This record gives sequence, C-alpha cells and structure tokens, in this order.
Amino acid sequence: MLDQDSYRLGFGTYSLTDKEGINAITAAINAGYRHLDTARLYGNEEEVGEAIRRANVERSELFVATKIAHFEEPEKTPDYIRSGVQESLDKLGIETIDLLYHHWPRGQDDIKTVLPVFNELVNQDIASQVGVSNYTPNDLDLADDLLDVPLSALQAEMHPLLPQQNLREAVQDRNAHFVAYSPIAQGEVFDVPEITEVAKKHSTNAATVSLAWLLSKDSVIPIPRSKSSEHIRSNLGALDLELDDEDIERIDSLDQQKRYEDPSWMEWE
Ligand SMILES: NC(=O)c1ccc[n+]([C@@H]2O[C@H](COP(=O)([O-])OP(=O)(O)OC[C@H]3O[C@@H](n4cnc5c(N)ncnc54)[C@H](OP(=O)(O)O)[C@@H]3O)[C@@H](O)[C@H]2O)c1
Repeated sequence: MLDQDSYRLGFGTYSLTDKEGINAITAAINAGYRHLDTARLYGNEEEVGEAIRRANVERSELFVATKIAHFEEPEKTPDYIRSGVQESLDKLGIETIDLLYHHWPRGQDDIKTVLPVFNELVNQDIASQVGVSNYTPNDLDLADDLLDVPLSALQAEMHPLLPQQNLREAVQDRNAHFVAYSPIAQGEVFDVPEITEVAKKHSTNAATVSLAWLLSKDSVIPIPRSKSSEHIRSNLGALDLELDDEDIERIDSLDQQKRYEDPSWMEWE
C-alpha cells in the first residue's frame, strides 16, 4: 500500500528519457527511492522499465505508478483505456501496475468513461490501486459514485507557493493520499527568501526544505524529479530534516497561489 514508509518520498520522471533518463532513474532507485512516478504521456515507460531491471532492487520492493489520459483520442472509448494500460505494462515490463491514475480529465464525461474501466482493471489484477490526477473537489464527488474500489491517491500540484488547503481536505475526507507534483515548484523555491532563510538555518538547501515542508503535512507524498545524481541524493535528505513549528508557520504564511501546470482548457475550482 502507498502508506508504506519507503514510498513517502517518490521519484518523478517527467522528461527523463533515453540513456540519460535511464541513468537518472536507475541512480534514483539505487540511492533509495522506491516509489516511481511515470505516465503514458511522458513517453518514457520503457526507460522506467529498463531502470527497474538495471537497479539492484527486487521488483517487489518497488511501487510503480503510471497514468493514462484519453483526451487526445477522438473516439474516447473504454477500449482505448484497456489497450493503453496493457501497452504501459508491456513497456514497463511488469505484470501489475501498483497505482494507476486517471491523468488530466477533460470534463466529467472523461471521468465517466475512464473510472468504470479502472474498476475492471483492479478486479483483473492489472492494477493494484487507483488514483486520479488533476481532479477538482467536484470531480472527486463524481469519482466516489463511480469507483467500486477505494481511491488510493489524488495527484496534483502542491508546493509552498500552492498549498492546496481545500483539495487536501477533500482528499483527507476520503482517507486517500495527496501525491504532490512539482514539489520544489520546478526549481522556483530557490528564489523565495523565506524558504532560503529556513534552509540556511538548517544548513541545507531550499529544495530539501520544500520537500520537508510537504512531508510535514498529513498523508502528503512529494515526487521530486531530477536528472542530477547529486540532487537525487540530496533531495532524500528531506526525510531526515525536522522543521520546527516556526519554520512551518513561516512557509504556511507565504499564502500564494502559483501554478506551474495550468493548461488553458483546465477549470480549477
Ligand atoms: N500529474 C500531473 O499532471 C503531473 C504534472 C507535473 C509533474 N508531475 C510529476 O511530478 C514530478 C515532479 O514535478 P516536476 O518535474 O514538474 O517538478 P519539480 O520536481 O518540482 O522540479 C524539477 C526541477 O527541479 C530541479 N531540481 C530538483 N532537485 C533539485 C535540487 N536539489 N537543487 C536544485 N534543483 C533541483 C530539477 O533540475 P535537475 O534535473 O537539474 O536536478 C528540475 O529542473 C514529475 O517529474 C512528474 O512525475 C505530474
């Protein structure tokens, strides 16, 4: 299950492709990450699969999450989801997806097509758990009606410049995890004085502070991405950094709403 301690800090793989991508993902697994986050849309499930085979870790110790969206499909059929997920399994070279997300719904009709197929895929052991990504609180209400299996996680953007209070409450009400993407605000936390000052106080850097702040929130799982072996290792330091109440309040009080992933067609609530 996703609440296992070793999955508390995942590894994001967006844009990690080709040889460089395989090397970064392999380095992440060997450094200690056990929760890997990819997506059909990232076009790198083969690289993630290759890294899983190359790393010195058993498949059973890893938690592999991928995502499928069907907004790019003119037909938007349930069969597209079934065959797309099978392709993901083949590319990853694994037998079961630990967590399958519906990625970027484009309206509630999308949700009504996809989630009933997710019920089937869990019953067939093709996916162990289901998640949703970029859902609004209203979308979560609809998911409650459509899913026969528990919702394991919502994945959405969250970092000190987008604290997602309302959405987090909606996820907690469902006993699900909030998987925080862009957890270091795609690098922008280094430009926020309140964060760099907290980092200085603890002799660390702003990325580590941002990740530790996320880890201090109930059931939040950050999934930072990096292609640098130094950053891959140093980001793990967030697991050992204990921010005090004053640090956390300082970051909480930034009170900003800055999104880095904001497609023009998306209607956030
Ligand atoms: N569900 C969705 O719709 C969705 C959307 C966006 C992202 N995601 C997932 O979330 C993951 C993470 O989000 P993200 O990739 O948007 O952004 P992010 O993890 O917030 O930031 C990644 C950037 O930060 C830099 N970085 C990482 N660690 C650093 C450190 N210690 N010091 C300095 N720079 C550092 C990386 O550069 P270097 O490579 O040079 O370290 C990279 O440019 C993605 O990879 C993906 O798996 C999901």
